[in-house]
This record gives sequence, structure tokens and C-alpha cells, in this order.
Amino acid sequence: MEKEEIDRLRREKNAIILAHYYQTGDIQDIADFVGDSLALAQWAAKTTADIIVLCGVHFMGETAKILSPDKKVLVPDLNAGCSLADSCPADKFAEFVDQHPGYTVISYVNTTAAVKAMTDIVVTSTNAKLIVDSFPKEANLIFGPDRNLGNYINSITGRNMLLWEGACHVHEQFSLEKILELKAHYPEAEIVTHPECKQPIIKVSDFVGSTAALIKHTAQSDKKQFIVATESGVIHEMKKKNPGKEFIPAPPNDSTCACNECNFMRLNTMEKLYNCLKYEQPEIKIDKEIQEKAVLPIRRMLEISERLGL
Ligand code: 13P
Ligand code: SF4
Repeated sequence: MEKEEIDRLRREKNAIILAHYYQTGDIQDIADFVGDSLALAQWAAKTTADIIVLCGVHFMGETAKILSPDKKVLVPDLNAGCSLADSCPADKFAEFVDQHPGYTVISYVNTTAAVKAMTDIVVTSTNAKLIVDSFPKEANLIFGPDRNLGNYINSITGRNMLLWEGACHVHEQFSLEKILELKAHYPEAEIVTHPECKQPIIKVSDFVGSTAALIKHTAQSDKKQFIVATESGVIHEMKKKNPGKEFIPAPPNDSTCACNECNFMRLNTMEKLYNCLKYEQPEIKIDKEIQEKAVLPIRRMLEISERLGL
């Protein structure tokens, strides 16, 4: 019932449903488009819909609203926050930036609009390496807020960017010990990992990449089994694309909880999606001055990504 009603409402209201791969399978399946953070921003920038329903977390809704300020942007549950964005309060980040004059500020998209407003260029995990590479080797760069992604980008680009000490609670939870136990059990399996994970996990991985890169890699690889060290929602798309392959979610440290599921992402449900389309709330609102500043580094990212064919 909900499904048909969601369908009817989105047609009637000229609404588009965008979903991140960390949403539950039912939401991914009903969405008009499913993507990683970069793809969601690209869609939000080009859609002609009047309403964007962003099934993801708050900063994703904000990014859509920053890019399309005249559209109504809804998120099924406004409490869907992000521990990584929360680990970088705008006032503290402003102090950090002020302490380093002459530095270019690169911010991961997992930040609040206020942090984006004091950023020179935004990146996602799909384009971070290429965008960092586009700066001269001697450039002084600040990278925030994810220390794990920052460390990883430093290691593959030979940079020494100054890092903000933030992290995602989901990606930091994975246990090296348990992943190695799993690998012993499935010796043929490839370990595929998101760069928000800690360095020891990255070191034992066969492939490291953004959500979209992990999906692409598992489809192209000859291997039949994969240990997946990222939010387990991504496995829905991996299974759809590769019915003959096996995907084993990497276990979190504490096996009594589902820590490889992002509790914020999972706040969105089909019922809340239906209600938000019906009542056209909760809506993302952004201060005009912040929006006008924050749109510049996001547009820069989109322009470079387009040039790079991403
Ligand atoms: P990507 O979608 O860019 O891979 O980011 C992962 C993530 O943690 C989203 O919150
Ligand atoms: Fe934020 Fe981590 Fe959840 Fe992504 S998985 S939305 S980075 S808390």
C-alpha cells in the first residue's frame, strides 16, 4: 500500500526520491535514483523536480538544498545526523582554519553547511584523491573532518595535509582481529574497504574505495566472495548486481550490536518516506548567507568531477 501511495504522491507532486546506498533495501528499491554522496549531489544539482526527497542523512539533504535553494528538500527523519559531521563543530573548525593562514581548506562532504561555508573545495570519497592531486605538490592543505580518509589520501598522494581529528563511528568500529578470522575462514575472499576505516583495516584490504568504487569493483572482480568493510546497506546493491557472488559483512568490534549499520541512516523508513511526501515535511532550511558561501566549494567539486569524467 505504502509503495503505491509513494508512487502516486511523487508523480502528483513532481517529486524525486534520491537514496544513499546505506538506506534499507525497500527504500533503495523505490527510489528514483540510488547513489553515493557524489552522485546524490550531482542529481540534486540537475533535477527539474519541484521536491527532492533525500533518503539519507542531514548533511546530504543540506547539500541538495545548497545546490537547489529554490526547491523543497525533504529528509524523512531530520534526526538522521552523522557522527562524522558532528565531530567537526563549525566554531572549532573556524579556529583551526584561522590558526593556519595561507592554507587551502578541503572538506569532505560529510560536514555541516556552516563548515562548507568556510571551505575552499568540497570532496567526496569518490573524487578526494583526484581533487587533492589537482593542487601543486607544495600547496599547504587542510583536510577535514575525517582523519582516516585524510591519512589514506596522504598515503596515496605523498602529501602531508593537516588533518582534522574527526571520524565516523560506523567505519571506526570494524575489528581487524575479526576480519582476519573471517579471512582465514574464507581464504579466497577479497577484503573490500571504505577509506573511512582505520589504517590497520586498510592495510589488510585488497581494494579500498568509495561506496560507488566498491560496488564497481565487486562487479568487475573475478572473485566470488567479498568481505565488505563498510556500512552493510551497500550489500543490497552488490547482491542485485552479482547474484552469483557472496558478500560477507565485516564484523564490528562489538558483535552484540549491528554497528556496521549506520543508526542515523536507518532512522529513515518507508512509513516516514510516505509521510514526508504526503505532508511535505520535515524540510531542510538553510540560512541564505551560509547557502551562498557553501555553494561555491560544492560547485567547484562538481565542476572538477565533471571534467574528470566522474
Ligand atoms: P560515500 O557515499 O561518498 O562513499 O560516503 C560514505 C558515507 O559514509 C556516507 O555517509
Ligand atoms: Fe555519517 Fe558514518 Fe553514518 Fe556515513 S556511515 S552517515 S559517515 S555516521
